[in-house]
Amino acid sequence: MYDFAADPAQPKPEFYRELLDAADALTAGEPDGVANMANLAALVWQLVPDLNWAGFYRLIGEELVLGPFCGKPACIRIPLGRGVCGTAAQTGETQRVADVRAFPGHIACDAASRSELVVPVIRDGTVIAVIDLDSPRPDRFDEDDQAGFEALAARIGMRI
Ligand code: SME
Repeated sequence: MYDFAADPAQPKPEFYRELLDAADALTAGEPDGVANMANLAALVWQLVPDLNWAGFYRLIGEELVLGPFCGKPACIRIPLGRGVCGTAAQTGETQRVADVRAFPGHIACDAASRSELVVPVIRDGTVIAVIDLDSPRPDRFDEDDQAGFEALAARIGMRI
């Protein structure tokens, strides 16, 4: 078992640097993408506060398919362009949603979710997956969270 720690009380840029280092160490040298996604979901779940879902959807053909995650069982397939995840996958752009109830087409997998951050993972210029984070707290994610997870997505593009 690995035991990573990062203090969520420290300034967010430092917290995310530590999260990135832990993610890097955890996935270095392991070629199996599913194993890496599973450990990354567990790492984020353990270290990032105020989440009720954290994990991956993989882009397969024209739809997103559920990947490794922590949280309640979730919708398995999401068409490209639908909901927050489908929009991030289609546009290749991070979706930071302060109030999911105000997002047209939001897919409520867990009624407790109030805000959401979805970051595309890009390999060779193509979206291959998204990292999806849900929080029960409205407006949970700020620009530091977005920058931190975009850096994480960039680091793991070749490892999942
Ligand atoms: N809320 C997401 C669906 C995935 S669940 O949050 C795990 C969306 O609208 O894309």
